[in-house]
Amino acid sequence: MKHFLDIADFSQQEINELLDLSVKLKKELKSGIFRPILKNKVLAMVFQKPSLRTRVSFDMAMRTLGGDALYLSPQEIGLGKRESIADVARVLSGYVQVIMARVFSHDHILELAKWSQVPVINGLSDYNHPCQAMADALTIYEEFGDLTGRTVSYIGDGNNVAVSLMKVVTKLGADFRIANPEDYDMPESDIQLGKKFAAIAGGSVTTMHDPKEAAEGADVIYTDTWTSMGQEEEAKKREKVFPPYQVNQSIVNLAKPEVIVMHCLPAHRGQEITDEVADGPHSRLFEQAENRMHAQKAILVDLLGGDHDAK
Ligand code: CP
Ligand code: NVA
Repeated sequence: MKHFLDIADFSQQEINELLDLSVKLKKELKSGIFRPILKNKVLAMVFQKPSLRTRVSFDMAMRTLGGDALYLSPQEIGLGKRESIADVARVLSGYVQVIMARVFSHDHILELAKWSQVPVINGLSDYNHPCQAMADALTIYEEFGDLTGRTVSYIGDGNNVAVSLMKVVTKLGADFRIANPEDYDMPESDIQLGKKFAAIAGGSVTTMHDPKEAAEGADVIYTDTWTSMGQEEEAKKREKVFPPYQVNQSIVNLAKPEVIVMHCLPAHRGQEITDEVADGPHSRLFEQAENRMHAQKAILVDLLGGDHDAK
């Protein structure tokens, strides 16, 4: 059973094939070509946390491929509370062809995948956000082409989004930098994994604490919230630590003239990013958000074995 849980599970070639398919499906949609590749296929979307982009982009991905999607809110399913994850997985497998879940603990998505009879997609866990990473790679590719030799600098918390971003860009040969406050590092095992991917593809991973050093000469500056979902009780403490890591105009000025600024959204304007930057000429925030749908269409078609080459 093939799932989409972690960028680490995919080779450079598989990632490139997914990106090529995303580009193709995006072009078709923009030209008004409709091919019901996933006709009669239904996606169950299980959420333990709120969402705008993940929910709507997956729903529209299925609809524009001729399939359908069901939204299951935290109250309805009670994943692991009302019913065990193993039972939810086996029940849903009898109704739908694919499951996407957004969970608090990454173990929950692994448990779901273990018991599911249909492919499971990780729509964000506390550990990673691989669908976001595919949309991010697509956005960088559309801007610059091949990622080889590009510098992607992440400034902020070493969180789920940072981990997946590092994995995808190092698999594709980029140089990844992360500047985060002390005690807010990515897990050491992931840094080592990123370095391994970078060594294979010809890129690098550099960790630091100085946001200016990270921004210097960068092609991409990326940031995310200081407080992720599930960490709300730490928000006050984090608001004291993170202000030096704000992506503002003086940070952007240190990068290459053609730098693009990225953020997975939702943004906390005035905290990790200023309005000036989020709405400025370097921002690709909304292209990135739209690309969630195009990238996920490729993931869905790939998992469900859709005939994407058919004329
Ligand atoms: N970027 C992202 O996953 O957004 P949502 O939380 O709105 O789905
Ligand atoms: N790091 C954020 C990403 C939201 C899309 C979170 O986990 O809340």
